[in-house]
Amino acid sequence: MNLAVSARALTKTFQNGGVHALRGVDLDIRYGEMTLLVGPSGCGKTTLLCVIAGLLDKTDGEVTMLGQRIADQSARDRVAFRRRHVGFVFQQFNLLPALTAAENVAVPLIAAGHKREPAVKQGVELLARLGMAERATALPRELSGGQQQRVALARAVIHQPSLIICDEPTSALDAVTGQQVMQLLTEVSLREDRAVVVVTHDSRIFDFADTIAHMEDGRVERVVPHGAPARRVATPT
Ligand SMILES: Nc1ncnc2c1ncn2[C@@H]1O[C@H](COP(=O)(O)OP(=O)(O)O)[C@@H](O)[C@H]1O
Ligand SMILES: [Mg+2]
Repeated sequence: MNLAVSARALTKTFQNGGVHALRGVDLDIRYGEMTLLVGPSGCGKTTLLCVIAGLLDKTDGEVTMLGQRIADQSARDRVAFRRRHVGFVFQQFNLLPALTAAENVAVPLIAAGHKREPAVKQGVELLARLGMAERATALPRELSGGQQQRVALARAVIHQPSLIICDEPTSALDAVTGQQVMQLLTEVSLREDRAVVVVTHDSRIFDFADTIAHMEDGRVERVVPHGAPARRVATPT
């Protein structure tokens, strides 16, 4: 079967401290699905996302992402591929401090060669869908944590990447905004040629998941189909 991500016996040991953050992860992420990755703090969730996206090198094992064995790519090809095909919401947001909210959102479009003005306009429109029309020209430092998180989310999806990777994307959001963010992610992930993976502690968003993968101590211990009940409610038949 054609998978968005496939990891086999994947390990990661940090030289610094000799921490075995990943101890043999097997995980499939399917196209057209939202996969939630849950587990206690320190169990390796962020490390796994970074290795999948090629932001960190694996120690051993195999990982294929969107048909590419990232370990085989040059650093330069890796960056270009990721920019084009992957959207990443970092746990710490990683917004550019000198750019406005809408300009931050527009970065992936501008990097792909789009003209600046229409790209920023598209950024404003996407922020409006996340209830931030009024804050589009604010700088990151003028925004609350929850607002920065929505900017990071918008930036991760604006260029319609095939793989969207989100590290705790609702941690700073209230219930209503968290649902808005998950609705937007669901709309994006519902396409057959895209996949979304979300690390979360937030049980309020579990019902958006097609699949929930449970991590413990550097391994994926269980993968449970969840059927995305929230989506069935949201979609009238
Ligand atoms: N850059 C690093 N250097 C050394 N150890 C790290 C580094 N990043 C993470 N770790 C360690 O790896 C383990 C997994 O961390 P992480 O993937 O951030 O967990 P989670 O996201 O599930 O909370 C932890 O023990 C953490 O301290
Ligand atoms: Mg983490």
